[in-house]
Amino acid sequence: MAYTDVYAAWQNDPEGFWMQAAQAIDWDRQPSRALWDENAPLYEWFADGMVNTCWNAVDRHVAAGRGDQAAIIYDSPVTHTKQTISYAELKDRVASLAGALRAKGVEKGDRVIIYMPMVPEALEAMLACARLGAIHSVVFGGFASHELAVRIDDARPKCIIAASCGIEPGRVVHYKPLLDGAIEAAAHKPDFCVIFQREQEVAHLTEGRDVDWHAFQYGVTPADCVPVEGNHPAYILYTSGTTGQPKGVVRPTGGHLVALNWSMKNIYGVEPGEVFWAASDVGWVVGHSYICYAPLIHGNTTVVFEGKPVGTPDAGTFWRVIAEHKVRAFFTAPTAFRAIKRDDPKGELIANYDISNLHALFLAGERADPDTVEWARRVMGVPVYDHWWQTETGWTIAGYPTGLGGMTVKVGSPGVPMPGYDVQILDEAGHPVPAGTLGAIAVRLPLPPGTLPTLWNAEARFRKSYLDHFPGFYETGDAGYRDEDGYLYIMARTDDVINVAGHRLSTGGMEEVLAGHPDVAECAVIGVTDELKGQLPLGFLCLNKGCDRPHADIVKEVVARVRDQIGPVAAFKLAVVVDRLPKTRSGKILRATMVKIADSEDFKMPATIDDPAILDEIRAALQTLGYARG
Ligand code: COA
Ligand code: AMP
Repeated sequence: MAYTDVYAAWQNDPEGFWMQAAQAIDWDRQPSRALWDENAPLYEWFADGMVNTCWNAVDRHVAAGRGDQAAIIYDSPVTHTKQTISYAELKDRVASLAGALRAKGVEKGDRVIIYMPMVPEALEAMLACARLGAIHSVVFGGFASHELAVRIDDARPKCIIAASCGIEPGRVVHYKPLLDGAIEAAAHKPDFCVIFQREQEVAHLTEGRDVDWHAFQYGVTPADCVPVEGNHPAYILYTSGTTGQPKGVVRPTGGHLVALNWSMKNIYGVEPGEVFWAASDVGWVVGHSYICYAPLIHGNTTVVFEGKPVGTPDAGTFWRVIAEHKVRAFFTAPTAFRAIKRDDPKGELIANYDISNLHALFLAGERADPDTVEWARRVMGVPVYDHWWQTETGWTIAGYPTGLGGMTVKVGSPGVPMPGYDVQILDEAGHPVPAGTLGAIAVRLPLPPGTLPTLWNAEARFRKSYLDHFPGFYETGDAGYRDEDGYLYIMARTDDVINVAGHRLSTGGMEEVLAGHPDVAECAVIGVTDELKGQLPLGFLCLNKGCDRPHADIVKEVVARVRDQIGPVAAFKLAVVVDRLPKTRSGKILRATMVKIADSEDFKMPATIDDPAILDEIRAALQTLGYARG
């Protein structure tokens, strides 16, 4: 069936559509219906089904006789390691780890934080939690202690599973001291920690609290899969909002299984047994959905790649991995391609590799600029499909469903809405706007299976952040428009979230850190355009009256503060001291105007600005950093 038929089939009978898709999942008890709308505008899917994620991602493939197929290919140029783990081996490893966790008291509903780099053990930890019905929360390795502590206090984990270290090009990331610092700072203390000791760095274990990954599995009884309700949380994944307090996106078990499984064939066009590679990190939603769960649920082989697009060892690494492991579908963020294009502008390195097995490249996580898309298409010789989604949805809102026949690609658009998503462009008053008109992008409720039903322990915040502004809709936080053919165009965020190298960051969160510096009276952080990373954060600092310390020292200190409290991933390196910030007469900082000045774009003088002369001071300050030169 073609896309339009499938979308129409969903529109005509959403319940039937999702019950049909649910048949591809092994249920311990079939759900009696798909949608549960008793608590609208809060919705649930497959709530009375009983199911286990790990069974569907691992055991069922072994039971079906595919135990010898590779489940995970680990390819780590930073440690010069390659390893293949079959489904049968994965089952044994996960069952053993789950057995050891259970022996130490982890049960269904308990939270487990996972703080690990891109190693197969990270996936095994996630799957072991799923096996027990425990709720994992993976924290990205590029976050520092403070961010980890915030998540520990919100999720209140019984256990934390961490690696001794991560490897970034040129440096070892000492996870264990970061973990110790986070536990020390957090009010909540886990009962125990499991430490996966890597060869590159063996960490000191804290007696009475830490156990060794291998040692604590010795002699345990492997755990069987524990069936859970369809609406049981599979995991919590924290994502940036407008403040320093991250939002705990809850992923429900049943909808997650159904939607991800549906996406593999219909969106990514792969068959079970084929190799799927998402070059992201397990700490992000792309890693959850498309490194770990979806490929395994669908019976594909997933690639766990520990490296970077460039420098590990060169800009041909991606081509090597695609060629060597016969990757059929490849997914990454546009920033990775910008990095490759910068190092190898003509794409010459690809000539050394045979990537003929690849059928398409999928891009997401940030706006795919047409130059990069064109470059990738030309160099790789395969179709390039942008698609748009968020941590909150867990899978594609708009894309090009390659498994549903061909669709015309419009460069600059991430495609058309997937079944389950009734996407509307709304004006400020919540009325739909005509094609071609910019507005807030919203999705009519209910959202489809797999999307967030709420935020962890924060239902009021969930309603306020997503549901209250446009009653009857989910507010995506993105602005854009739709063309006459129904293709969407994503233009900007409507909140303070910025996107740095495909990583979602809160400028509000950074402002909280800057404001904590003893010499800073007031501050603002904006996202300025960056050729490689899409955006970079840039801070303006107003100092306390009487502060006569050298500005360069203060800038250095706030840069270190953000790295220390949020983490290196914030990529916060630009800050400048100014006398005043531009504000409206009611005192609102004019961040959007400052962004336009930094990016040398035309802007309309805000009618409500208090003192237009401040903008000249801002321009001059930005010029000292190399911005606002146009
Ligand atoms: N653990 C610890 N530190 C990490 C980390 C991790 N898992 N990931 C990144 N960092 C650090 C980096 O080492 C860097 O530190 P530095 O300031 O000491 O150089 C900092 O965080 C910023 O990282 P990043 O923004 O990723 O920049 P980079 O220069 O290391 O790499 C790219 C730039 C474009 C190559 C890289 O961002 C990339 O490959 N992106 C792919 C996109 C992606 O994975 N997106 C995820 C969503 S799909
Ligand atoms: P995250 O939750 O980290 O996946 O970030 C989601 C946000 O990234 C979206 O709300 C968008 O702002 C942005 N984003 C993701 N994919 C795209 C895309 N294909 N085009 C434009 N922006 C995107």
